[in-house]
Amino acid sequence: MSFISPTKALFQQARVLLLGSGRMGHIRAKAIFANPRFDFAGVVDQNVDGAKQLADVYRTNHFASLTEAIQHNTTPLHGIIISTPTATHAPLISTAAANNISIFTEKPVDETSLQIQEIFNTVRNNNVALCCGFQRRFDPSYVALYDAIKKGAVGTPLTSSIFFGDHPVPSRSFLLQGGGNIISDCSAHDIDYIRWVLNDEVESVYAVGTSSDDELEEAGVIDNATVVMKFLKGAVVTLTLSRGANYGYDQRCEVFGTDGMASVENFAENSTVLSNVSGVHRPKWQHSFPQRFEAAFGYELDAFADTLLLGKPWSVSEEDCVAVQRVCDAALESCERGQVVNLFA
Ligand SMILES: NC(=O)c1ccc[n+]([C@@H]2O[C@H](COP(=O)([O-])OP(=O)(O)OC[C@H]3O[C@@H](n4cnc5c(N)ncnc54)[C@H](O)[C@@H]3O)[C@@H](O)[C@H]2O)c1
Repeated sequence: MSFISPTKALFQQARVLLLGSGRMGHIRAKAIFANPRFDFAGVVDQNVDGAKQLADVYRTNHFASLTEAIQHNTTPLHGIIISTPTATHAPLISTAAANNISIFTEKPVDETSLQIQEIFNTVRNNNVALCCGFQRRFDPSYVALYDAIKKGAVGTPLTSSIFFGDHPVPSRSFLLQGGGNIISDCSAHDIDYIRWVLNDEVESVYAVGTSSDDELEEAGVIDNATVVMKFLKGAVVTLTLSRGANYGYDQRCEVFGTDGMASVENFAENSTVLSNVSGVHRPKWQHSFPQRFEAAFGYELDAFADTLLLGKPWSVSEEDCVAVQRVCDAALESCERGQVVNLFA
């Protein structure tokens, strides 16, 4: 798909706005500022104090809304980076597309596969790129595993075991106010990654979720879950997710095939090892996603610069975004119904 006009390829720098000054906003602001291919035009947040504080760190402007930022910028904007809550993505994407501005958005593009399809339909005629972030595709370890599988290093993949151990446990208010369901919040990353690695589609899903205390159960919030996916070519993938990895952010992926096994493992906070009579002690795993994926977040935004400046297609396609969310939606349905959900029925 070509979405960029030849004149745009002449930009030396891509002029971009950051939307959202929360957790992801802080990560993205640092990566935008560190990349000389970006001209950082400002931070937008409806929480104006948050926008100002973050904008001041990187000596850029702050705005209360995307519309205000667009009106203020007499120099054309080439891209926005959306780091606001998922439910706010669609109107921001529509506004940017209507103003001929390309979009990078945090995953997921929207809350259901139908809504994701709708938003891609909306932007299709605007000649802009809509790029969804799945940072495993830019992480050196996950990319090396992808390359190994693609070269046939383990033969034909038969099974994959993936573990997503979140750390630290999110706040009660986050868990109870919409963000808490671990399948909705966290599974998309590994589902996107394993589809990409296996170059295959999920045929059916069976998922079981549990709540680790009464308050979460009463609120219908699942904080531990296992999702079993059968792929069309026959591989079976087990994705286990938990909020409770108290020893650090635990992100592992193992692919087992006819000729061997390849895996991505964790990084510790540092490489110091204490050995004494009680054992051999290493530090905990890295604290959380900002530490574990710091490099990947930087490479990901550099790829967005490639899209804006050079017209390179984004590696996560519309079909990928919709298919990943269909699997997430099916996993939630399977949890509720206690049955296998077929995606090709
Ligand atoms: N890639 C990852 O590993 C990863 C990790 C965490 C979150 N996320 C995704 O990032 C997105 C943001 O999550 P977060 O945890 O950073 O949220 P957050 O709550 O920490 O921050 C969101 C910010 O957006 C602002 N905001 C809300 N509506 C707005 C609007 N209409 N215009 C401008 N600003 C607005 C809020 O005031 C807040 O400051 C979500 O889509 C989430 O799924 C991705």
